[in-house]
Amino acid sequence: MRTIEWNDIENCIEMIDQTKIPLKLEKKFCKTIDSLIDAIKSLKIRGAPALGAVGGLGIALSAFQYGGEDREEMLGAIISDAKRIKDVRPTAVNLSWGVNRVLDKVLKNRRFATTLSGESIEDIRRFALEEAKRICEEDVKINKTIGENGAKLLNDGDTILTHCNAGRLACVDWGTALGVVRSAVEMGKDIKVFACETRPLNQGGRITTWELMEDGIDVTLIADSSSGIVMRNKMVDKVIVGADRIVKDGVFNKIGTYTHSVLAKENKIPFYVAAPYSTFDIERTGGEIIIEEREADELRKFGESYIAPKNVKVFNPAFDFTPMKNITSIITEKGVLDPGEI
Ligand code: MRU
Repeated sequence: MRTIEWNDIENCIEMIDQTKIPLKLEKKFCKTIDSLIDAIKSLKIRGAPALGAVGGLGIALSAFQYGGEDREEMLGAIISDAKRIKDVRPTAVNLSWGVNRVLDKVLKNRRFATTLSGESIEDIRRFALEEAKRICEEDVKINKTIGENGAKLLNDGDTILTHCNAGRLACVDWGTALGVVRSAVEMGKDIKVFACETRPLNQGGRITTWELMEDGIDVTLIADSSSGIVMRNKMVDKVIVGADRIVKDGVFNKIGTYTHSVLAKENKIPFYVAAPYSTFDIERTGGEIIIEEREADELRKFGESYIAPKNVKVFNPAFDFTPMKNITSIITEKGVLDPGEI
C-alpha cells in the first residue's frame, strides 16, 4: 500500500492518516489546498520523502482546483498555493523540492513566474499531474536502491538503533533507514531493531514499531533516553537514521538525532544516515536553516491531559543538527558517501 498517491477518480490526494497509527489504518482524502495544508501541519502526512511527494501532488491539486478559464488567474492561484504549501514545514527540504519540481513543469520560468507552459488549462493540469506521479514512482525505486546499497553494510545478526520513522510511511513506500533494514532482511540477514520512541510526537513508538511488526521484523521499543544504556552495553551494532535536510556541514533530522550521534561516537558505534539526493541542500550550511518550532502543548499535554503546568515556558524544536564529524557514511541511491565527499 502506498503512503500517498493521486486518486484518479476523485482528482484528489489520498494518504494514510499517520496520526491514527497504530490504532487504525485509515485513509485521508485531501480535495482542497486548505485540507492538504492541515494534513501536513498536523503530521497526517510526514517524513521527508513523503513531503516531497505531497509538495508535487499539491501543485497538481492546485491546478485541478482552479475552476476558471483565465490563465493569468490560474498562474496566480498556483503560485500562491505553492508558497502556502512550502511554508508549512520549513526544515524538510523535500517539501519545497517537490513543489519546485512540478512548478518547473507548469511554468515557463519558475524564477520569474510570469507565464504558464501549455496551451490550455487541461495541458497545465496534465503536466503537473504527470510530474507529480513521476516523483511518487521514482521515490519507491530510489528507496529500494538506497536499501540495497545500505544492506551491504549490515552483517547477519546485527541490531540497529533508529530514531523517529524513516520507513515506508515516511516515504511513498519501502523507506530510507528502514528500507536498509528491509533490504537486508530480504537478503536473508537476521536483523533486529531498537526503535526510539521519539518524544514528543512518538513517531518511533507509534509508526516505526507498527511498520516493522507488520513486516515481521524484530523490533524493541525504547525511551529516547535509553539509547545511552543500549549503546554502552553493546546491545546495538549500528545506528541508522533518515534525514530532513543534508547541508554542507551536517544533517538535520528529528530532534534527538544529534544526541544519539554523540553517544554513538563515544561508544564507537557506526552512525549512518540514509537519504535520497532530493534531501541534499549542499549550497547551504547548518546555520542558515530554519528549525521548525512546534506548539508548546505538544510537551505540556499527553492526549487531553496536562502533564506539565499549563503555563510553563516551552522550547519545542522539531529537528536538530548533527555535524558531519559524527556521521560514518551517508547511504544514497547513488552509493554510500563519505561525509568528507559532500
Ligand atoms: O516531523 P516528522 O515526523 O516529519 O520528522 C521526520 C523525520 O525526522 C524523519 O526522520 C525524516 O524525515 C527522515 S524520513 C525518511
